[in-house]
Amino acid sequence: MTACPVNHLMTLENFHQGAPYSLFRELRQDKAVAWEDENISALGGHWNVFSKECVDKVMKSPAIFSNAGGPRLEDPPKAMIQGANVSLNLMDAPLHRKNRSLVDHAFKPAAINRREDHIRQIAARIIDEVIDKGQCEFVGEVAQRLPLAVICWILGVPETEKKMVCDLANTMMLADDPDFSGGPGESFAAQAQLVIYGAGLAADHRLHPRDSLTMDMLLAKDDDFQLSDHEYGLFFLNLIIGGIETTRNSTAFGLAELIRHPDQYQMLTADPALIPGAVDEIVRFRTPITYYRRTATQDVELAGEKIKQGDTVICWLAAANHDEQFFEQPERFDITRCQRESVRKHSRSFGVGPHFCIGVHLARLQLNIMFEEITSRMCNIQFVEEPKQALSVFVDGYKEMHISFDKA
Ligand code: HEM
Repeated sequence: MTACPVNHLMTLENFHQGAPYSLFRELRQDKAVAWEDENISALGGHWNVFSKECVDKVMKSPAIFSNAGGPRLEDPPKAMIQGANVSLNLMDAPLHRKNRSLVDHAFKPAAINRREDHIRQIAARIIDEVIDKGQCEFVGEVAQRLPLAVICWILGVPETEKKMVCDLANTMMLADDPDFSGGPGESFAAQAQLVIYGAGLAADHRLHPRDSLTMDMLLAKDDDFQLSDHEYGLFFLNLIIGGIETTRNSTAFGLAELIRHPDQYQMLTADPALIPGAVDEIVRFRTPITYYRRTATQDVELAGEKIKQGDTVICWLAAANHDEQFFEQPERFDITRCQRESVRKHSRSFGVGPHFCIGVHLARLQLNIMFEEITSRMCNIQFVEEPKQALSVFVDGYKEMHISFDKA
């Protein structure tokens, strides 16, 4: 077993300015797959996978690398990963396929594109509310509002309950940042509350049927299989978590990079057709979910390393997205890079394999629309102060970004 050159990779100090891309490069150049010993944050020791090739091998082999241990390094409480409490992203085949097929159709491009006009209206309203002020706190006033409004609209969450749902999602995802959470215990409690809230939302939909994805999901049938309120609650958790944080962080990162590269902002203003490719570069350049965990179901060799049954394997999507074998000068932000499908297809921001992000089309559509709104209505955008990074190893994102701008 080869010791990881940095045996404390998964500590907050390494992530206080976001994912440590240059450290990933050094580690990947040393070893594509490396063991990290147990330390305070990395309990039990685990494998780190740094190269895109090996990330693909792991994520495309669900029979050998299971999702059942949870998405993060820390083990969830046993009750949350057993029996009736397993949510979609913790399921393995055949249960995973059976559950996912109930909702897959609702997230296909055709179904998502039907929502485009309404999403555009929401995005326009969000910009309307800040445009005359000439400055705003972009994360809270803009970036977070679109994905929150959209996922709540799609799922039929009442307006008055949106903020509570968003606060729970932040507490759950940003367990290490005292601005959002009191630690892992509070994070798991927030997770449980989201499931309970989702089950209540299902019960309410059964009593008062209405047009929403929640209703569609409750009515969906596969042979004799239909979701119970609690099973829907577990789905709700996945959709809310997947839907809000990631898209918010990409919106803020994207604008931050465009402020740092005004020439590239100009390119988008001049030619909005470049926006979808720019969005792909934004999610590659600062990968919103830095890693996903798998657990080995059998002894297996990977890049010459002997992984044992039961070992925890951390797939660094952020490192794979900066693998120089697939991306030339990966640490350069360049909106022209992902205009080419031959490059774009290597990005692992949305994962790969059977758990590939179900919300990918919705995420891309929202990001495209938001950047169309921004680049057509705002100019001379500047930082009022440097953005503040949220503290997390798992989620890369800004928690505050004060900007000033003029009306275009
Ligand atoms: C920039 C935005 C987004 C990023 C970077 C992202 C990233 C990811 C990644 C990497 C996975 C794979 C997890 C794994 O392999 O275990 C995933 C799965 C998932 N995502 Fe997203 N996501 C985004 C937006 C969304 C949105 C908008 C939704 C909700 C509609 C969503 C819902 C989900 C769900 C439910 C899963 C679990 C799928 C499964 O296990 O089969 N995501 N996402």
